[in-house]
Amino acid sequence: MIVLGLETSCDETAAAVVTGERRILSNLVLSQLEEHRPYGGIVPEIAARSHLDHIDGLVARALKEAAVGFADLDGVAATAGPGLIGGVFVGVMTAKAIAAARGLPFLAINHLEGHALTVRLTEDLPFPFLLLLISGGHCQLLAVEGVGRYRRLGGTVDDAVGEAFDKSAKLMGLGYPGGPALERAAQGGDPGRFDLPRPMLGRDNLDFSFSGLKTAVRHQVAALGRTGEARDAAALRDLAAAFQAAVGDVLADRAARALETFRAQTGQAGPLVVAGGVAANRALRERLGAVAESAGARLVAPPPALCTDNAAMIAWAGIERLRLGLDDPLDFAPRPRWPLEELAEELARRANAGAAG
Ligand code: KG4
Ligand code: ZN
Repeated sequence: MIVLGLETSCDETAAAVVTGERRILSNLVLSQLEEHRPYGGIVPEIAARSHLDHIDGLVARALKEAAVGFADLDGVAATAGPGLIGGVFVGVMTAKAIAAARGLPFLAINHLEGHALTVRLTEDLPFPFLLLLISGGHCQLLAVEGVGRYRRLGGTVDDAVGEAFDKSAKLMGLGYPGGPALERAAQGGDPGRFDLPRPMLGRDNLDFSFSGLKTAVRHQVAALGRTGEARDAAALRDLAAAFQAAVGDVLADRAARALETFRAQTGQAGPLVVAGGVAANRALRERLGAVAESAGARLVAPPPALCTDNAAMIAWAGIERLRLGLDDPLDFAPRPRWPLEELAEELARRANAGAAG
């Protein structure tokens, strides 16, 4: 089975060709970073136009690099939400056009499901597993029971982790995108110099909160400004290290608790899977690895390049769905908002329709 995947939901235009034997034949990611940098964040209109400019050429290159033609494909998958809707339209319309022209199945992929299933592309991992999904727009703990079957255990009540990284990095003058910049800045820093809060630590649920941490960073940066240290590299290094340590403590505490819950519900010690852009962070991966180990569980994390947005994960989710006969009609409407839990309801609806028809 060979599937072409497209990803256009944010600021990366991506196309990939993946096989059912878990081989990534090509995986191209075109970053729009430079186009958005002057604005200090993503401008949806610019993103949509840039996807439109680049998607055709990228698809051609992805096929060429994979040494396959349209005739070799078994399906075309595209991110159909959640995300910036202008960009999502571009990927979905392109995939539908190819599917229509070649008579191929079209797969409307939930971007979060792409992140959630990436580990099954990189290794032979059976269901169920515990998923910590940490990206720019999301921060959730989920029990993954099968393709399309995601049970939410907890999530953020305010900001996503990646958002906290991005905003804190901006406050520290580290530029955009903030996550990788902050990780670099934190290297060699003293995490103990600044006292930052650990929101939700020890709370008896599985929720997260990061806005207080971001506010604490703002106050700290202002204080450094008053003492003239705001541009001092050592001070920024220590503040970045303190921020990363605080996030690490919170994620570790929540993940440890979730592993207990998951064990109580399934009788299984993990595995703990971490996915999404923030899962590219080395310090956080190490921290979560230790948490898993003390719970007698394994931490499974995709390689960093498959944690941040890419199309191989979309093609793979397409393969997982195609195998189950879960392709989508060509009138599928892209969704700016599309919580993962809705997929289970959709599966149930399809099963009922199948039984009735
Ligand atoms: O999954 P992703 O590429 O896009 C979304 O679906 O949101 O995640 C992007 C997020 C951004 O907030 C970015 O700053 C963060 O992931 N990120 C990182 C690192 N690399 C990317 N955060 C911390 N450390 C990193 N190394
Ligand atoms: Zn993502």
